[in-house]
Amino acid sequence: MKEQINQLMDVVAGFSAQTAEELEALRIRYLSKKGIISELFNDFRHVPNDQKRDIGQLLNALRDAAQEKYSYLRTEIEARNCVSEQSDMTRPADPVGLGTRHPLSLVQNEIISIFSRIGFTVAQGPEIEDDWHVFGALNFAPEHPARDMQDTFFIEKNPDILLRTHTSSVQTRIMTGQQPPIRVLCPGRVYRNEAISYRAHCFFHQVEGLYIDQEVSFADLKQALLYFAKEMFGEATRIRLRPSYFPFTEPSAEMDISCNLCAGKGCAFCKQTGWVEILGCGMVDPNVLEACGIDPQKFSGYAFGMGVERITNLKYQVKDLRLFSENDVRFLNQFQ
Ligand code: DAH
Repeated sequence: MKEQINQLMDVVAGFSAQTAEELEALRIRYLSKKGIISELFNDFRHVPNDQKRDIGQLLNALRDAAQEKYSYLRTEIEARNCVSEQSDMTRPADPVGLGTRHPLSLVQNEIISIFSRIGFTVAQGPEIEDDWHVFGALNFAPEHPARDMQDTFFIEKNPDILLRTHTSSVQTRIMTGQQPPIRVLCPGRVYRNEAISYRAHCFFHQVEGLYIDQEVSFADLKQALLYFAKEMFGEATRIRLRPSYFPFTEPSAEMDISCNLCAGKGCAFCKQTGWVEILGCGMVDPNVLEACGIDPQKFSGYAFGMGVERITNLKYQVKDLRLFSENDVRFLNQFQ
């Protein structure tokens, strides 16, 4: 019997089957209830006791080897069938999914492109800043609410370090680093301690503009912003400047454009006023120039700052700010 089992071991090792039918024939011949291996197990009764241990082990090994070989061949045949049934090698390949630019990137790039045509270059600064660059140099009073934990994210261990709340901090870095003429745009992400909702987020994006030279006037500011509004929202767009307050500019203003949805006639979007606010601006406060090492007797300048989400909402009527950071491709795909 030992002989027979060893021979069968060789046979099993050489098992081969090209088709499911061939494989089934092997199974019936060797592994079924009436197959060769089961017969051997039946004969096992007659094996003398002193050989039972050896032969038993051999028999078990034979059965395991046969079953293993059978499973292997079955997987191979199934895989082959799967390929031949489902694959049409002449079918065109799946299109490579090209990504699209994020709407905020599109709009930010457009803002940069518009201002670069009138001589602005791009500058960047760190998102983790110190109090002086974000507030101190920009003429914020020590007790200004922006310096409160309610509004600003401070680093716990060192309250002098914080996440910038506006890109005006890059103004500080530029002005302390070089003398006029300065004409830069500073795009970037900013952070505020706000509860997240459809209209507020704890981070968003701004583009800051800064122009400093001799004899820069408010008229220059107005002209640059009118040019921007027309390029961004169409030739028919009108602007208006409302007096406002920012610590770092004097005088300060907020700029509205005629509502781009109703062309200024009044609609739900502009709350029937015909105007929508798009940015803050003003003449750089002499205190700021001085703090940054620029002589206010010699130089003057203007600055403006706008929210990229705000401009994007106006251009594309995105009603929920959260969409910008959720990475839902159904939303993102719409911006080609
Ligand atoms: N930093 C202001 C803000 O975050 C925006 C701003 C207003 C920037 C007026 C300016 C400016 O440069 O002149 O709300």
